[in-house]
Amino acid sequence: MSERTFVMVKPDGVQRGLVGDVIQRIETRGLKLVALKSVDVGRDLAEAHYDVHRDKPFFDDLIAFITSGPVVAMVIEGPNAIKAVRGLAGETDPIEASPGTIRGDYGLDIGRNVIHGSDAPETARQEIKLWFEESELLDYERVDSPWLQE
Ligand code: RTP
Ligand code: MG
Repeated sequence: MSERTFVMVKPDGVQRGLVGDVIQRIETRGLKLVALKSVDVGRDLAEAHYDVHRDKPFFDDLIAFITSGPVVAMVIEGPNAIKAVRGLAGETDPIEASPGTIRGDYGLDIGRNVIHGSDAPETARQEIKLWFEESELLDYERVDSPWLQE
């Protein structure tokens, strides 16, 4: 079943010039770009996004990192998009992430792991609503969709 997920290239990914590579992996997997923008993340948005981690010891460092530079925010759609993007990203800690995944190819440190992807349908809905206006989400078909799905 087709679903939407929120994806973000974090400030380290933007500064290291990895935006194109991340988007390419998403596109060539067959997932559809529904929305895309650069965002200078303020403290309120960062704290709302990572609210679930508010009581964790790494929360302050995480907020400082996410607000440290521009990010690229996306809404991605496709069959099992949430799982597909989490698979492309790899394990949270890049050291545990398999080579071939984004984190496994580009990361070494859990606090600099390049990409975020929603972890469940409800979180995806909340995150898309937090980051995007409804009018920013585009409705179109990829011409190759019959070649990507039975
Ligand atoms: P994300 O939300 O950023 O996509 O990452 P995730 O689902 O794979 O991992 P999550 O548990 O949601 O953690 C959010 C981010 O917090 C940082 N973190 N640091 N020092 C630590 O033990 C620790 N644990 C998590 C990571 O940057 C992680 O992406
Ligand atoms: Mg998470």
